[in-house]
Amino acid sequence: MAGRFWSFEGIDGSGKSTQARVLAETLRTAGHEVVLTREPGGSPGAEQIRRLVLEGESDRWSAETEILLFTAARRDHLEKTIRPALARGAVVITDRFADSTRMYQGISRGDLAKVVDDLHALMIGVEPDLTFLIDLPAEMGLARAHSRAGSEMRFEDMGLALQSQMRHGFLALAAKLSRFAVIDGTQTQDDIAAQILAIAQAHLG
Ligand code: ADP
Ligand code: TYD
Repeated sequence: MAGRFWSFEGIDGSGKSTQARVLAETLRTAGHEVVLTREPGGSPGAEQIRRLVLEGESDRWSAETEILLFTAARRDHLEKTIRPALARGAVVITDRFADSTRMYQGISRGDLAKVVDDLHALMIGVEPDLTFLIDLPAEMGLARAHSRAGSEMRFEDMGLALQSQMRHGFLALAAKLSRFAVIDGTQTQDDIAAQILAIAQAHLG
């Protein structure tokens, strides 16, 4: 495909949405076509699934059912938004992608990593070219997430131990895969944005 496919990952409140937005604006100003999108969601059908998975009680769905719902949303997002944008040559920036399923559904409630990877291979089959992992202590992420609390709190409500487990899971994944760039999320927004932009520009060549 002609375009670039980049993702932002990290625990809740790590600053992904803030940084994805800043990067998209900077690249647009520089003349690039940028599609800024998010998961779960990013297409009308996937946004409907978003409401099912993010609202309600923490125990509303089993981890297995969640894997199916998040993957269904991702498939629609890929078909309707990501693939058409990449075919046009756009830079697609997504706030979360499959690595989030690997963490939240794959390791948080028992070991379902293989199920996540098998379903991903069957139904999605693509990875971003570049993934920004914004890393910070779980306490800081949760404090930030709670400061903008709304109705989408199913995962934040699962608590500190789980956020910490996922932080370390993300770091372990990043250590294995060369598409990851790990960014220290405890820095100021401007410092983080400058680091991310430098990496992005290097990838654009
Ligand atoms: P995420 O998308 O990872 O959940 P957000 O970008 O929504 O994170 O940020 C969560 C909260 O933290 C927001 O209120 C945001 O303004 C704030 N925030 C983001 N980046 C920083 C930073 N580097 N330092 C301090 N606060 C930040
Ligand atoms: P998001 O809106 O990015 O939340 P936040 O801004 O708090 O980081 O994502 C919503 C929640 O969905 C978040 O708690 C992580 C969860 N999630 C999964 O559990 N699995 C997935 O595959 C994805 C994409 C998100």
